[in-house]
Amino acid sequence: MSTTVLDMPTSTPTRTAIVPIGLDRIVLTGFMGSGKTTVGGLLAEQLGWRFLDLDHEIERRAGRTVPQIFAESGEQHFRRLETATLVSLLGQRRVVIALGGGVPEELGNRLLLEQTPRTAVVYLAAEFATLIERCRKQGIERPVLADEAIAAERFARRKPHYERISGHRIESETAEESVRAVLEKLAGRG
Ligand code: S3P
Repeated sequence: MSTTVLDMPTSTPTRTAIVPIGLDRIVLTGFMGSGKTTVGGLLAEQLGWRFLDLDHEIERRAGRTVPQIFAESGEQHFRRLETATLVSLLGQRRVVIALGGGVPEELGNRLLLEQTPRTAVVYLAAEFATLIERCRKQGIERPVLADEAIAAERFARRKPHYERISGHRIESETAEESVRAVLEKLAGRG
């Protein structure tokens, strides 16, 4: 993928960033609390692209919240919905997609992400303690966080997958810094 030749911004009023040529999708991965949703929303706004949050899309299609799906149908069912929704989101163009933290744990999802052309996967990295603290502050109900020791195991298991499926790794303090870092990496300057 070429990231050195750049497409100039058009007249879209909110767009302030340059879109790397050859790219149709930017996918953000990382553990819960890594800022995928916040960074994804800001990034999409700057590019004049659409923002798609995988969890929100699952909830919209299922007519239930993620905690409800976990409680009523179990994690396996949630994972099936997650893969089906991922396939459909990866079929769209000019989108920034925020994944759920568990997506890269499934081999099929990793293959999908690796094999979808014109797609940049970016890992928003942070230490486990930082992620947990951010999640607690957000106060969003996350079934996978119910037991912190199990969450730590999941984090350790997933970390190499986040690294491996991503073309770029960002570790920033704030969402604004992350957006800047993503754009620089994609322009080949990071
Ligand atoms: C999960 C992360 C959540 C959501 C679900 C499961 C996980 O997404 O998909 O609760 O297994 O890590 P976020 O990473 O957006 O919180």
